[in-house]
Amino acid sequence: MPYYSGDLIEEVISQNDIVEVVSEYVTLKKSGRNYMGLCPFHREKSPSFCVSIDKQIFKCFGCSEGGNVITFIMKIENIDFWEAVEMLAERAGIDTTRYEVNNYYNKIESTKKDMKDVMYKLNRDVGLFYHNNLIELLKEDRNDVKDYIISRKLDIKTINKFGIGYSTGKESLYDYLIRLGYSDEEIMASDIILKSKTGRKYDRFFDRIMFPIFDIRDRTIAFGGRAFGEKVKNKTVPKYYNSQESDIYHKGKTLYLMNFAKRNKLENIIIVEGYMDAIALQKFGFNNAVASLGTALTENQARLIKKYTDNVIIGYDQDGAGQAATLRGLDILANHGLNVKVLKLDREDVKDPDEYLNKYGPERLQNCINKAISLVEFKISILEKDLNLENFDSKVKFLTGVSNILSKIDNNIERDMYIDKVSKKYGMSPGPILKEVEKGLKLKKDDEVQIDMNALNKKMQLVTTVRKRQDQYIVALLLSKNKRVQEEILRSISSEDIDDENVRKIFDFILSLKDKYDINKIDILSKIQDEDMIKEITDIMYIDISGYEEKLLQDVLKNKKKEKLFTRRDDIIKRLSEDISNDESQILEVELNQIIIELSKLK
Ligand code: CTP
Ligand code: MN
Repeated sequence: MPYYSGDLIEEVISQNDIVEVVSEYVTLKKSGRNYMGLCPFHREKSPSFCVSIDKQIFKCFGCSEGGNVITFIMKIENIDFWEAVEMLAERAGIDTTRYEVNNYYNKIESTKKDMKDVMYKLNRDVGLFYHNNLIELLKEDRNDVKDYIISRKLDIKTINKFGIGYSTGKESLYDYLIRLGYSDEEIMASDIILKSKTGRKYDRFFDRIMFPIFDIRDRTIAFGGRAFGEKVKNKTVPKYYNSQESDIYHKGKTLYLMNFAKRNKLENIIIVEGYMDAIALQKFGFNNAVASLGTALTENQARLIKKYTDNVIIGYDQDGAGQAATLRGLDILANHGLNVKVLKLDREDVKDPDEYLNKYGPERLQNCINKAISLVEFKISILEKDLNLENFDSKVKFLTGVSNILSKIDNNIERDMYIDKVSKKYGMSPGPILKEVEKGLKLKKDDEVQIDMNALNKKMQLVTTVRKRQDQYIVALLLSKNKRVQEEILRSISSEDIDDENVRKIFDFILSLKDKYDINKIDILSKIQDEDMIKEITDIMYIDISGYEEKLLQDVLKNKKKEKLFTRRDDIIKRLSEDISNDESQILEVELNQIIIELSKLK
């Protein structure tokens, strides 16, 4: 990434309307001069996420995340500051080359950035190396690699499309990378080449079929390598080796083949476990298939999916999907508003979609997809599998388990529908189920009362922080467009007058900016990196003081003066109660009188 001048930040902020940008991720409803929605950064059922069109900032009053359009993109895309700036520049069609600069200070700042760029390129070159190795072997008459590729039904079109490769070639990977001009340091940093005890440098993926893993922008960020043949049968090596997490590869944020899937209009996304499952599905025309690569789904992946579709079909291995970690992953998807269905293969003799497709073909799989069951039904079927329903105790347990699942459904009609369905399917009368579900619902209600108590506590906290409010007003006034008010604040208030630590930090920061910039013209928010400070300043920006500046200024000054007088008064009273000379006591009494008179005037 090149180095950009700070002007690009201003340009990006002015060219990307925050309401439009946020709307690409969150459903917003207009509410007065603000837009409200469900916060994407924490789970909630009623909206406390607020976007201000005139201030061009967002703030969640539930989790207190806040910031401007750049902060928003950083958080939601999990990318760093300059990546967010670039992304928004691209969105607004800003020519970033006009803002490139070349200064030493910026260079130091972005060495890490540079290293990332090198790693993207290096991973791509490694991928090409593997791919070419495989292509060479496929030209030969016969060899064990070619045999394996054929046995997995991988055709040349698929191999080319997904960059499939083979790790070991005529030249060593290390020598090849040196030949391309990478330094030893860069190569070793990639973590693909390892060093043996004797100092020999070797490929960690020696003798494996290689699957490059791409990010959403088609960059190669990691690899999965599958061993094959005798080695796997004898279990002398693990079946798969995968790249470690790195600056460019975050497992929990990646979905394999999402970069291909997203090229289509997606009615739904099929999530499978393995490389070969996703590849086979895409090969047979299921362009919406991605793989989670054998790990439980994360919030980040849920958000990624939600960008493209609302519907997910889980096509996990038949044995694998019942595990607790998997279920938690599916709940995460559901909690992000995704409609989750679970694919059940109608044959027991195959374990995953890849095997199914190769044995029974795409039409029959499509049929299974059409019959995919809801997450609730799936959870119930797992309960059923774990219990022997002939037995009385088990039946009671099943009933409790089912009721527990059903009472979590928010929609009344949907809940009743399931009660009906379950009672019919398992030959139970609906009465007891209904009773149990109602018990669960009541517990849930009690929980909600608990939450209300918390809200109340919060409100009470607000009351105790009127003092903090006073401090926030000072900064709000300092940021107001009223020049006279600003000057008055600067003249009469100093840092020590502010009790609250965070507000004081903001106050000091603005003062420090004042020497370099016209604080009325710059975007102060974009100059702050500290999370606590961002939260604080967005809070303050939401205090609407327009039209009340003069009155508020008088109040603030009066209150600060009062505070000072009160403190001095208490000090004097304390001093008077001590053993002091008559002279001192007389002087103090005079002062005390004056303070009391002044205080009464201030009321
Ligand atoms: N996996 C892994 N390491 C292992 C086993 C599995 O990383 N030792 C991951 C891989 O991403 C793999 C996925 O979990 O694709 C699913 O594992 P599994 O079902 O065992 O393999 P398949 O994907 O079916 O692979 P294959 O069809 O080649 O046997
Ligand atoms: Mn498989």
